[in-house]
Amino acid sequence: MTRLIGTRARRAAAALGLAGLIAVLPPPSLLRAADPVEARQRLMVSVVRATRIPREMAQGKTEIDAAAVRAAMLPVIEAAAVLPGLFPDSSSGMKSGALPAVWREPEAFRAGFTALEQAAVQLVFAAEQGGDAFAFAFDAYAATCDSCHARYRAAE
Ligand code: HEC
Repeated sequence: MTRLIGTRARRAAAALGLAGLIAVLPPPSLLRAADPVEARQRLMVSVVRATRIPREMAQGKTEIDAAAVRAAMLPVIEAAAVLPGLFPDSSSGMKSGALPAVWREPEAFRAGFTALEQAAVQLVFAAEQGGDAFAFAFDAYAATCDSCHARYRAAE
């Protein structure tokens, strides 16, 4: 499972010409964290931090910078590859923001990370086109966060 995800992320990275990411993606053995709740929450925070960069561009607060978008999406693509492995069954009873639906419908849940990864790749391509294409791609990207949270993350 983790091996497949790793392969998928490597392929996505290769499509973007991100040789550096291919080198830094952790091997499957590293995907089993001692504390999966802490590990996945930390990764989600890195995702939200990376998302700020394209969001400000989509809002017109900063210039669209394709290289900066590409750099920001690297950790997101990496996180989308690693995160599915950080919701093991053994963590279903631990206190966290994840709803039971994560373990009730694991395939649909994991598909959400595939959608995130694909949207991140699209965003990198859209940054090269700029303007409306970029704003549209950013909305699609943000929608992958929201649709997963609506179903699988407890309201704060
Ligand atoms: C496939 C599902 C899924 C996708 C896609 C997803 N998330 Fe999450 N996210 C979750 C779940 C589940 C939690 C709760 C994790 C926990 O508490 O163990 C969470 C938690 C978070 C948290 C809180 C972390 C903390 O410290 O507790 C933030 C912030 C976050 N997500 C941001 C994002 C952003 C931004 C995106 C999109 C760019 C995104 N997420 C995409 C499922 C998802």
